[in-house]
Amino acid sequence: MDLESVKRSFYKDVERANTGDDIEKIRIAYLGREKGHITLILRSIKDLSLEEKRVMGPLANELRQEIESILRIRQGEFHSLSREATTIDITMPGEKASLGHIHPLTQVENDIQGIFKSLNFAFIDGPEIEKEHYNFDALNIPLHHPARDMWDTFWLKTKSANRNERLLLRTHTSPVQIRYMETHKPPFQIISPGRVFRFEAIDATHEINFHQVEGLMMGKSVSVANFKYVIGLFLKQFFGKEVEVRFRPSYFPFVEPGFEIDIKIKNKWLEVMGAGMVHRKVLEGVNYDPEIWQGFAFGLGLERFAMIKYNIHDVRLFYSGDMRFIHQFN
Ligand code: DAH
Repeated sequence: MDLESVKRSFYKDVERANTGDDIEKIRIAYLGREKGHITLILRSIKDLSLEEKRVMGPLANELRQEIESILRIRQGEFHSLSREATTIDITMPGEKASLGHIHPLTQVENDIQGIFKSLNFAFIDGPEIEKEHYNFDALNIPLHHPARDMWDTFWLKTKSANRNERLLLRTHTSPVQIRYMETHKPPFQIISPGRVFRFEAIDATHEINFHQVEGLMMGKSVSVANFKYVIGLFLKQFFGKEVEVRFRPSYFPFVEPGFEIDIKIKNKWLEVMGAGMVHRKVLEGVNYDPEIWQGFAFGLGLERFAMIKYNIHDVRLFYSGDMRFIHQFN
């Protein structure tokens, strides 16, 4: 090959090079000690005549230097490109960190709390491990009373430290009513959301561990009409629209009269809570004079409210840890 065509093919090759390795291959092809095009040309110069040597020598050396310097530059470019790939490009948009979000049940609990707060209800907490007295007896559910069968109970092996009382995982949030009334004077209105436990078989509508929100309003002239108004307001705000409400007579030992409350959703009546006027035996138990004080109480299932609001058909999803379910509530 003559110098001119070597030069042309060199520039073509360099233009096609995409990596540092390509450049290295070109270097070997042109400057390689054995068969490099330039090496061969330089080597052949010794066979030329003196005059030819004088012309070709400097030209060939010039081209060799040109090729060397082009290769050095290109190699340097590829090198810094690959370095960049492993260092941080501060101009690149950041990856979005996944922050997580509040669990749907907590969201619903917060919603419910917010609504009752706006109605001037105070928020009260109670223990999940409860004494038999608060969970049953003080709520007018004495030992051996058939009403105890309404709550399948997890009993604890340990007894309470001071009075040797039996302990259990509370089967409902109603014991908070008693704890609060024992230590406070009416009038007041409270809600108490929390976890409850039932010794039951698990299926799409039953969990051994779920949540309730207890409500209690106590005063001199609190009536069923007040309850109807408050609960109507609450339901309207919670579901974001007017809902049809129905009161059905029902039995709970700690209220008289007692009701179950149904709401109409998509033309179907769904039971959403138990309620009633606090039983005079319960009032007497906490030293309230039933001739002066009266109040309404209610207990609703948090999961049930969440399931109705979001059209969820299996209560087990809440505790499944399945992120596909959870992420829908972001
Ligand atoms: N504690 C009841 C249950 O878990 C629900 C309930 C019914 C609560 C009537 C109340 C009430 O406060 O008045 O089944």
